[in-house]
Amino acid sequence: MKYFTTNRSLQTTTIKSIIGLILFALVSVFGFLLGSSFNEANSKIHLIFSSDIKLDPRSSTNNQQSIKSSSREYNSTHLWSMRLANEDYFRLARLLPCRIVEYVGGPNVNKIDSCDHSSTNEFSIQNTLQAQKWLYEHQHPMDCMNKRFAIIQNFAWSGFGSTFHQIVWAFGAAIADNRIAVYQTPGNWLYGTCDLRTPDCIFLPITNCSILSKVDSNQTIKINANTGHWSKPIHPSIFQNRTFNWYRAQLLFYLMRYKPETLTHVQNTIANYFKPPSIDLHHPYIAVYVRRSDKVRNREMSQAYTLKQYFDLFDTDVRRANISTVYINSEDEQVFDEFFQINKEKQGYYKLLNITAERNVVFASLVHMTNEQRRKIVLEFLSDLFIEANADLHVGTLSSNWCRLVDEMRLVLGKTIPFYTPEQRFLMDMRR
Ligand SMILES: *[C@@H]1O[C@H](CO)[C@@H](O)[C@H](O)[C@H]1NC(C)=O
Ligand SMILES: *[C@@H]1O[C@H](CO)[C@@H](O)[C@H](O)[C@H]1NC(C)=O
Ligand SMILES: *[C@@H]1O[C@H](CO)[C@@H](O)[C@H](O)[C@H]1NC(C)=O
Ligand SMILES: *[C@@H]1O[C@H](CO)[C@@H](O)[C@H](O)[C@H]1NC(C)=O
Ligand SMILES: *[C@@H]1O[C@H](CO)[C@@H](O)[C@H](O)[C@H]1NC(C)=O
Ligand SMILES: *[C@@H]1O[C@H](CO)[C@@H](O)[C@H](O)[C@H]1NC(C)=O
Repeated sequence: MKYFTTNRSLQTTTIKSIIGLILFALVSVFGFLLGSSFNEANSKIHLIFSSDIKLDPRSSTNNQQSIKSSSREYNSTHLWSMRLANEDYFRLARLLPCRIVEYVGGPNVNKIDSCDHSSTNEFSIQNTLQAQKWLYEHQHPMDCMNKRFAIIQNFAWSGFGSTFHQIVWAFGAAIADNRIAVYQTPGNWLYGTCDLRTPDCIFLPITNCSILSKVDSNQTIKINANTGHWSKPIHPSIFQNRTFNWYRAQLLFYLMRYKPETLTHVQNTIANYFKPPSIDLHHPYIAVYVRRSDKVRNREMSQAYTLKQYFDLFDTDVRRANISTVYINSEDEQVFDEFFQINKEKQGYYKLLNITAERNVVFASLVHMTNEQRRKIVLEFLSDLFIEANADLHVGTLSSNWCRLVDEMRLVLGKTIPFYTPEQRFLMDMRR
């Protein structure tokens, strides 16, 4: 029996159902083989690996243990490559005022209470682990013979967040119909810059089954991942007792498990720009993503907000929690000048983290790039996503698919401190 601790207010809860995680061994072997040529520390894939996870508020020292299994080492702090909310995070959360936020724009309103860290909280880590295990096993059965399949094809040509949300719809449709989701190869995914032209170019494979049967409208069907499907929301019965927001976020997270090459690239990017060179050494920090340009021009956002409007939202809270490191990203270079001005007014309270990325990249420019240019941009997106998902606090506008994607990943990791947003709206957008 292994233990790890999240929050002191958590009930001691034993999850007997987290068994058979031996399935994960295959993935780690895969990671190990690919990773052996990489920097040792960077190439590890961290997964929860235990037949019996106990969340015990008194066993705070036990989370230092790593869980050994066969020849691989795992530790209980990461899910795939992402760090789960930990004691430091929950300690921070308790310093901030409680808020109940309502996510709108879905089939119903979904509430999240930022101070509910109990095991009944839907976004608890044990719920995430169960869901991720279920999804993994669904997609990696012992035997693929006689299974039902859905081939995801016809990817949407839209912004990264948008196209991914459409894939999530198709994945949900496959699960709702008790089918294993497989990508059509070669696909037409704009951001898939390897020969597969699917998300498998950058993320761990969606499944390990290959399809043997013909497309027959019975055992094997095709599902389109182009735009417009969320107007018919799908909510598979297996997740019927969960909110729409929770279920979608879990599916998204599963599909976006970084593969070792992607993770190594991201960690090298961070090492190039951050001193000290690891994300873990910058906590606590707040991540600010400023979406402007095409979103505003196309009127998806009602207005552009000044950086000061963003800072005014969180300045009091971050001071209360002694957070002074701020990561800023935007496709608009001008945001950094605004930052230097704001920080001057605040007597240099904030310490800036940033990566140098190609600015002013919008969907229209991506379409016209070469594969190689696009590959570089996609990896920059994923570096940014990694930094934002790891942040303690987060700021942005949920009318942006990108910000929603980040918010969903953070929720899956157990980070329920509400998104700071000048829009004052928590959105699960169904349109794009
Ligand atoms: C888990 O692994 C990560 C990444 O290597 C490391 O930074 C962290 O300290 C480890 N945690 C524990 C509790 O060993
Ligand atoms: C897929 O992965 C599962 C779990 O690791 C394993 O049991 C199964 O044999 C694998 N199937 C194939 C076709 O490799
Ligand atoms: C549909 O597929 C199942 C196997 O998944 C098979 O048993 C059944 O006979 C098929 N039905 C038709 C009408 O082809
Ligand atoms: C949903 O909750 C009901 C009532 O608690 C329960 O009977 C049912 O099994 C649950 N469904 C799933 C898929 O967990
Ligand atoms: C981003 O950070 C680098 C240091 O890593 C710095 O040289 C650069 O000026 C920063 N860019 C902006 C726009 O502040
Ligand atoms: C914040 O930092 C100040 C000065 O270092 C310290 O007195 C205070 O206890 C800290 N507050 C928290 C909540 O950590």
